[in-house]
Amino acid sequence: MANVTGGWNIPARPKVLVVGGGAREHALVWKLAQSPRRPVLYAAPGNPGMRAWAQTVEIGAGDVEALIRFAAREHIDLVVAGPELPLSLGLADMCSDAGIRVFGPTRAAAQVETSKAFAKDVMCRAGVPTARYEVFTDAEAAKRHVRACGAPIVVKADGLAAGKGVTVAKTVAEACAAIDDALVGGRFGEAGRRVVVESYLRGTEVSLMCFVDGETVLPMISARDHKRVFDGDEGPNTGGMGAFAPVPAFAAAGMEAVVVERIVRPTLRELAARGIRYQGVLYAGLMMTDDGPYVVEFNARFGDPEAEVVLPLLDGDLLEVLWATAEGRLADVAVAWRNAAAVCVVLAAPGYPEAPRVGSAITMPASLADLAAAEDGPASQVVVFHAGTREVAGQLVTAGGRVLTVTGIGRSLEAARSIAYGAAESIYFEGKHFRRDIGQTLSI
Ligand code: AMP
Ligand code: GLY
Repeated sequence: MANVTGGWNIPARPKVLVVGGGAREHALVWKLAQSPRRPVLYAAPGNPGMRAWAQTVEIGAGDVEALIRFAAREHIDLVVAGPELPLSLGLADMCSDAGIRVFGPTRAAAQVETSKAFAKDVMCRAGVPTARYEVFTDAEAAKRHVRACGAPIVVKADGLAAGKGVTVAKTVAEACAAIDDALVGGRFGEAGRRVVVESYLRGTEVSLMCFVDGETVLPMISARDHKRVFDGDEGPNTGGMGAFAPVPAFAAAGMEAVVVERIVRPTLRELAARGIRYQGVLYAGLMMTDDGPYVVEFNARFGDPEAEVVLPLLDGDLLEVLWATAEGRLADVAVAWRNAAAVCVVLAAPGYPEAPRVGSAITMPASLADLAAAEDGPASQVVVFHAGTREVAGQLVTAGGRVLTVTGIGRSLEAARSIAYGAAESIYFEGKHFRRDIGQTLSI
């Protein structure tokens, strides 16, 4: 259990506002709703799947002024930032200025995600293992560098590009095209006015998210995202097509502690040396290479879809953990994890990721919970988290590229997989597609 030992100041029935409207935020709301503190939950903008537990508020995640006004007016006790956009716009800073408790890093701290050049500079100064890199604003200079290095090589837009700003180029020509796209064609707008060119890392990927309160670091269990749209890691990168947790070999090797010591703590120390205190989730996207873990990217928030497999395995009260993080009191909290596994499968709209077609009716069996119980006994469960859905005259319809995230929880990864896929098959909307191989690559 997440167990608070110190004196505590969480009021009865605290009001919590979750910012965001995807499956990650649905998972946050779902887990918060299980808190024995019986929080009163709000979600902005939220989604139809959350309405059983949270009041949805029609404010976009990027409308930080309106979010602050709402939080002040409703006397919100804790604001929880889901996506990176509000963090990049200073939501956490504005909450603090307004005296509102917030879970999530300041705008300056969120630069570990919002500027790849910033993140690389911090890592290099901190001695954190990461791919060698150069930053360019001039296309010709970048292409000269690529020709000198050869392929494979990786080209990244500096700023936020919704997971689409990275090209892992197999050839020099492909890398040069990506450079022209960003620096000449302006494909990513402001976010692509600088590019990071970095060396290619060989290995398997693992995501490790940590709760950080400025001082104390509590790692969560590891997860693996599947970013490419098609089976076997083919096709373009997406926001994530599925995930599983934990990654057995990572946990067996005790890698959580290694990553905290070699990567997370040195990064936090370097940020502190720059006058930046980090509070919230620090997400390390890792490549497990022959030389150990290297950082591919940092995120300043829970991963999506990692949150949909990690949060269901948290054994205890998420509200206490988020509250303690916001208060700088994580040292008073013990976080434990269920001895179980989770697999999630993203059901995507036809045309995703390039041009998703939306507006199709979604049909779902009335009780997916029964399906899980039938497959793996009482320790198992299925939860359907909404992402791109909308309700039109009482009918659920598709409204985005990633429509639903179906999570199976079971005693083993195998059990969790079969629960997730059983449920994924049983949901229907026109043109639904999903990967069939989530949770099959277990090694590190
Ligand atoms: P990022 O948005 O930085 O996480 O990159 C998206 C994906 O591109 C990652 O999940 C990796 O699969 C891949 N990638 C990024 N950087 C590298 C690298 N240096 N070497 C190999 N693959 C990479
Ligand atoms: N799953 C990767 C991310 O959230 O950025």
